[in-house]
Amino acid sequence: MKFVVCENYDDMSKKGADIIADLIKKKPDAILGLATGNSPLGLYSELAAKYAAGKINFSKVQTFNLDEYYKIKQADPQSYYFFMHENFFSKVNIASKNIDIPFGDADDAVEESKRYHDKIAASKGIDIQLLGIGNNGHIGFNEPDDALSACTHNVLLTESTIEANSRYFKSADEVPKEALTMGIGEIMSARQILLLISGKSKAAVAKTLTDNFVTTQIPASFLKLHQNVTVLIDKDAASEMKIK
Ligand code: F6R
Repeated sequence: MKFVVCENYDDMSKKGADIIADLIKKKPDAILGLATGNSPLGLYSELAAKYAAGKINFSKVQTFNLDEYYKIKQADPQSYYFFMHENFFSKVNIASKNIDIPFGDADDAVEESKRYHDKIAASKGIDIQLLGIGNNGHIGFNEPDDALSACTHNVLLTESTIEANSRYFKSADEVPKEALTMGIGEIMSARQILLLISGKSKAAVAKTLTDNFVTTQIPASFLKLHQNVTVLIDKDAASEMKIK
């Protein structure tokens, strides 16, 4: 894992956007794995600004999002589909046929997970997977557990994730209790991984990434086994780490 300590959230967002913009310049039909949440918001703004300035063209780019609540309708303002359109897709020229997000309103979560897995597997492969990290070490919605799933699947969210995500809802009771998420295998099969970590509240989990072991109780620890991971981490999040 390559750790890049950033001055603050804005610096992290700019550096992350530069990495993605460089990739798209080299490979205009790049396949991006995308995330929601606070961590990538600034990066999406930076990419939208580059697009508005004519510095980047997304017309051939394809995207797969990491996850979606289950069950939720796309039009629900709390859905990840809504978040992505509001914060990114509506601001750049990615063709809607090139966008895929697990369908949170599918009747059958198992079938929808299989559709999503098959589509990723049939693609030319995710070039860069953008990730945030949960306070409990989750990536996507792969929650700490005795075993982790390799492929897209539906999960029960942990109390800690429901609590963390309740900041976007009126109360924790309104947070959906399930989600559809890429599995660890699909995340690990991306050619490159870009993990964004920002803020004091992530300092404890960030520190575990420098330990020399992997455990299903910290799903992000599996990223240590990937050959091409860049961690953009701001000073607050890195405050408990000793990076050599
Ligand atoms: C979002 C996702 C989650 C978040 C994580 C961190 O699509 O898969 O794993 O990346 O919960 O969330 P923030 O960035 O809001 O702290």
